[in-house]
Amino acid sequence: MERTRVVQALRSTAPVDDIQIMGWVRTKRDSKQFTFLEVNDGSCLKNIQVIVDSDVPSYSELEGINTGASVRLRGKLVESPGKGQKWEVQATEIALIGAADPEGYPLQKKRHSDEFLRTIAQLRPRTNKYGALYRIRAELAQAIHRFFHERGFYYVHTPIITGSDCEGAGEMFQVTSLDMNTPPRANGQVDHSQDFFGQSAMLTVSGQLSAEVLACSLGNVYTFGPTFRAENSNTPRHAAEFWMVEPEMAFADLKDDIDLAEAFLQYLVTHIREHCSEDLDLFTRFVDKELSATLDNIAENAFVRLPYREAVEILQKARPKQAFEYEPTFGEDLQTEHERYLTETHFQKPVVVYDYPKSIKPFYMRVNDDQETVAAMDVLVPRVGEIIGGSQREERLEVLEGRIADMGLPREEYEWYLDLRRYGTVPHAGFGMGFERVLMFLTGVGNIRDAVPFPRTPGHLHF
Ligand code: 4AD
Ligand code: MG
Repeated sequence: MERTRVVQALRSTAPVDDIQIMGWVRTKRDSKQFTFLEVNDGSCLKNIQVIVDSDVPSYSELEGINTGASVRLRGKLVESPGKGQKWEVQATEIALIGAADPEGYPLQKKRHSDEFLRTIAQLRPRTNKYGALYRIRAELAQAIHRFFHERGFYYVHTPIITGSDCEGAGEMFQVTSLDMNTPPRANGQVDHSQDFFGQSAMLTVSGQLSAEVLACSLGNVYTFGPTFRAENSNTPRHAAEFWMVEPEMAFADLKDDIDLAEAFLQYLVTHIREHCSEDLDLFTRFVDKELSATLDNIAENAFVRLPYREAVEILQKARPKQAFEYEPTFGEDLQTEHERYLTETHFQKPVVVYDYPKSIKPFYMRVNDDQETVAAMDVLVPRVGEIIGGSQREERLEVLEGRIADMGLPREEYEWYLDLRRYGTVPHAGFGMGFERVLMFLTGVGNIRDAVPFPRTPGHLHF
């Protein structure tokens, strides 16, 4: 069906004799001789105003048209005499496509809470806020591809089903086949995953190890896909299923990695401001009044680069004036409250913390000369905290073998990974950026359950 999207109609430079619009009715208002409809088709934040004169032959269709109904409209695009819009449609034909029971339709013309809207994930993208959020999400994904494409990175696909726990945190979901025909084992138990793959299979927590394989032959690559974590942390920043962007560069060290992360975040902020200004405006005006300033700050300033050791010292000095629930201690991970103190209070800008203690980081990170820390980095931003985690990878065969042994990892499962160090090893580095966390940062949205259209969190799998 030929149709003009509302976004195009509203950008028109001249009247149009005959256009067809299809969308959902936001409001319907009757006056003596006319009915006014506000119609939204998801192509932009704005609705198009449609005036239906009672002379229009299909006028009676209006009876069944209420808020939420889907409609098809034909008419003339004319300059609007009213305030608030440049163009409006004078309908010549109107048809109801799908009715919506006005009693039952959950989206009323009032402000609904985010909590309520989470219970109707099937309808919330029809609200202004969530429509805007998911359009920005779509543009953000495009911007990510553009950034890497412009820099000659290859987009590679890494597996979702995997046999290895990249982060070594044991927070994986197991994959089982539901082939009920598999006979039980001698002990009566059925392990469908074992029977299908001949070994346990999990959902990936990170594509990194596979991305390293591809970087160590193609040069610079990135993967961008869903990742899964069975961490039982019921926080506004953790989801069990989220999207991660993971670049991996051959012949690169930690400094190259941090430079890339900084350029990447700045690019994304600038891109979204340029390409989603109308949608973003909703968030700067109604969601976070500080958002504009925060985004300016990230786009224009170099990030602070701070060794972990100094970060802990700053946090320790901040006490007792600054009350932390968790004491900042060398050898322990920074807590959200610490990340927020550094970015919001102390530096008031993004902070890259690097050289973390070896003891709290995974096996693959490159051991520094001090033998105590590894070449790891986290990018922390105001409000959201950690948005990127990355490192230079251990490229020395013996050191890596030693780390695998020290951490008690099953060596035989990493032979393929060791091969990258055995044959033509190179310094290489990469990071993972939480896609939803960036979206939260860009829009001021405070809960990851809203940045994902269909959130999966502990105790929650809506459909
Ligand atoms: O810091 P993480 O765990 O790093 C890795 O997985 C590395 N293997 C990445 C790499 O070097 N290629 O995760 C990376 C980012 C975090 O900084 C955070 O933004 C996001 O992924 N993240 C989550 N986002 C939402 N929900 C969760 N449960 C997340 N866990 C991590
Ligand atoms: Mg991390």
